[in-house]
Amino acid sequence: MTGFDAIIIGGGAAGLMCAREAASRERRVVLLEHNKALGAKILISGGGRCNFTNEDAGPNAYISHNPHFAKSALSRYTQWDFISMIATHGVTWHEKTLGQLFCDQGAGRILKVLTDECHQNGAKILTGTKVEKVSLDAGTYRVATTAGEFEAPSLVVATGGLSIPKMGATGFAYDIAKQFGLEVEAPEAALVPFTFSDADLDFMKPLAGVAADAVVSCGRTSFREALLFTHRGLSGPAILQISSYWHPGEAVTINLLPDLGDSFDWLRAARDSRPKTALKTLLAEKLPSRLAEAIALDWPGPLGSLSNKQLQAISDRCSRWHVVPSGTEGFKKAEVTRGGISTSELSSKTMEAKKQPGLYFIGECVDVTGWLGGYNFQWAWSSGWAAAQYL
Ligand code: FDA
Repeated sequence: MTGFDAIIIGGGAAGLMCAREAASRERRVVLLEHNKALGAKILISGGGRCNFTNEDAGPNAYISHNPHFAKSALSRYTQWDFISMIATHGVTWHEKTLGQLFCDQGAGRILKVLTDECHQNGAKILTGTKVEKVSLDAGTYRVATTAGEFEAPSLVVATGGLSIPKMGATGFAYDIAKQFGLEVEAPEAALVPFTFSDADLDFMKPLAGVAADAVVSCGRTSFREALLFTHRGLSGPAILQISSYWHPGEAVTINLLPDLGDSFDWLRAARDSRPKTALKTLLAEKLPSRLAEAIALDWPGPLGSLSNKQLQAISDRCSRWHVVPSGTEGFKKAEVTRGGISTSELSSKTMEAKKQPGLYFIGECVDVTGWLGGYNFQWAWSSGWAAAQYL
């Protein structure tokens, strides 16, 4: 099929934003999605309420080999632009925590806004359409699919990363990048729970289901959010956040008493003022009781019987608990993929490949990974919008 200005492959957040925006600029676009339905990840996001952006979205909340790359798109299509767009459709939202905005009407409403705009603006959308081959012939991209061949001078790849293969995630974008000689930063699971060796699991497993407020650090990066013990190790927002900064072999430091300046001073003062109190009772004043009990197992006896050295060890265990994950739960459980099409290959203004005119990459397939909390959708909206200005 001919007569299109652009072919967009991938009907997720970035592809839909790009299609609606390009079509609103009277570009003739066709969007090809291999799943039967559009926007699978939008629908399951935020527990079905879609954490569609973050009030604080800005370049500092993104990980990339080039931390400046995301600035241009994020500043030209901001969280406020997306918010005003959905507001015109009568969508309302609420902030849950830390600037995270969720849709009151549910994730399906966000998807409906995007697909309605695509249709109103005249974008053609084909679902259940598998791409068989992409080629370039005298400045025209040809995409052979199960629904026939499509031709256009521009091709936008919006097929996301590798996270959650059972939802249709593929390495298609990386394959196209390689086909056209573009560098790809190794894709890795991010925003993902950690797994641990049996020795660590002996402590963690019995605590499965316990959540605690914690500061979790790796290198110079820290997040304060909830940590959750699981049967496989550690999860919860604080762990997911730090997982995006973690590399195999590195230690993660956990402060389970983030409101105490120095937990050693607190422990010593408690020993002096109430020496008959059991450690588990004291710790349970600041920690969930099951966690307090599990930590105190190593130091039975009343506080008065504990030496300064022992108090220091307890303080270290609570405020500077070093753990070395054995790995992560991988792409099966990862919310996003870190790495992707190298930013050095793309224009940050247009998202077009510098050495391959007409070829664009947007959304999660690019080496820009946001924090947990609506930042990844904002990148999808911003990068999709940016590319659409140049199709
Ligand atoms: P996305 O993955 O959304 O879309 C890619 C599309 O391309 C898919 O429809 C896929 O089927 C299609 N595709 C893939 N290969 C293809 C091929 N070969 N041919 C044709 N089509 C192909 N983020 C956030 O900001 N707030 C949140 O609340 C959440 N919640 C959340 C929950 C869960 C469980 C997950 C897994 C992820 C999130 N995220 C999130 C992350 C967010 O979903 C993600 O960053 C964006 O969906 C990325 O948008 P893209 O459009 O780039 O990829």
